Amino acid sequence: TVIDGPTITSLGPDAISLHPRQLICIDHQGYISRLLDEDDPDFLSVKEQAAQQDRLVTLQDNNYLLPGFIDLHVHAPQWPNAGLALDQPLNEWLNTYTFPLEAKYQDVAFAKTVYNNLVQELIANGTTSALYFGTIHNQANLELAKACIHHQQRGFIGQVAMDNPQQTPTYYRDASATQAVNNTEKFIHQLTDLNQTAALPQTPVITPRFVPSCTPASLSGLGDLAKKYDLPIQSHCSESDWEDGYALSHYHMRDAAVLDHFGLLTDKAVMAHGTLLNQTDLNLFKQRGVAIAHCPISNAYFGNAILPVSQLLAQENKVGLGTDISGGYSPSLYRNMNQAIISSRLLHDGVDRQLPPEKRGTSTAPITAKNAFYLATVGGATSLHLKAGQIKVGYLADFQVVKAPFPVFYPQTPDQIFEKLIYHTTKATINQVFVQGKLVKEGQHETQR
Ligand code: GUN
Ligand code: FE
Repeated sequence: TVIDGPTITSLGPDAISLHPRQLICIDHQGYISRLLDEDDPDFLSVKEQAAQQDRLVTLQDNNYLLPGFIDLHVHAPQWPNAGLALDQPLNEWLNTYTFPLEAKYQDVAFAKTVYNNLVQELIANGTTSALYFGTIHNQANLELAKACIHHQQRGFIGQVAMDNPQQTPTYYRDASATQAVNNTEKFIHQLTDLNQTAALPQTPVITPRFVPSCTPASLSGLGDLAKKYDLPIQSHCSESDWEDGYALSHYHMRDAAVLDHFGLLTDKAVMAHGTLLNQTDLNLFKQRGVAIAHCPISNAYFGNAILPVSQLLAQENKVGLGTDISGGYSPSLYRNMNQAIISSRLLHDGVDRQLPPEKRGTSTAPITAKNAFYLATVGGATSLHLKAGQIKVGYLADFQVVKAPFPVFYPQTPDQIFEKLIYHTTKATINQVFVQGKLVKEGQHETQR
């Protein structure tokens, strides 16, 4: 396939490039093989040849090709609760609303219905790769993998481990540490088998829910499995005062140090939230190559603090963006980019009007639309070791085609075009989504061929 149209890609935390017209050539494996600007001497011949062979896709007016987004933290089973029940602190919210819902995924038919709907919804919102938490149920997690394969989304899928009888309900927990670890190992094999016939292979992820939900024995066993199979790891870390307090009182260590003790902080680890990580934790994350999944909407409800994203970018901690459905109510990473920017403004300006102006806020700079776009694309790809998230030769052809949301009333600079897209793109203005060069979702406006 060859795509003809304007492209926008991140070049780093503070830079984007907008090419008014490019030909993007995609090879048989679904990677970008060549990029030609309009002044390239081969532009016309490459375009004509593709057109003759019916391989040319031409974008409509006012449409732009962007990299597909990478959702670095999403709880697939919580999708039915998105937008509901955000009225309690984390620990109570888990027990009141979340564990009862997740327990339902023992029912494989229920899992299949929800997961097929969620995967399509995320793709329609421009998300081409996602790092998922499933539940403790192997069969339901396989349904999630099948939904990703069916709808062509690159999934990273975690069989959740939670075996601590003190912090999990009888109706929803692994019966023992051994069972938690064995079910995870079984899931790795089940997914490997499923991948044999899959058009788009899915990746298993070692997933201790978080320190309080697990016993030392399961954390230790999962650390061993991650090493044995060289797999990605995901969990939550320092998301709330309650979680931080739990690690201190039960282990006399910081939450991050507990995870590290059990071999769970590797350069393939993605830790969600991290709003309360201190500088020592952040240094440890950087040393180990651990990524943080920033979930700004969810953090406004449960995070007890605002993640200082510009500080993390400046000190080169790995950071990407996550929806954290249903701690976050929106399946859209656009809405999460918007919230990330708003939250960091509040952090910078300060929220306590009782303080005099000079004492309000922090010196941390607020993040920009470019920073947020970097998180949703390059940040996520780097965290998952994916050659994706940028329009660049050798990278995966995972794209979204978005339409400018409003008429243009005066000529706009590339930065202005970009910023409008970040603030206003919705599912309704995402016209096509491509994964590995294949069209996986078509919006209302048909592609011209
Ligand atoms: N910590 C442990 N489990 C969860 C969860 O499901 N959502 C969030 N936001 N935090 C958690
Ligand atoms: Fe979460």
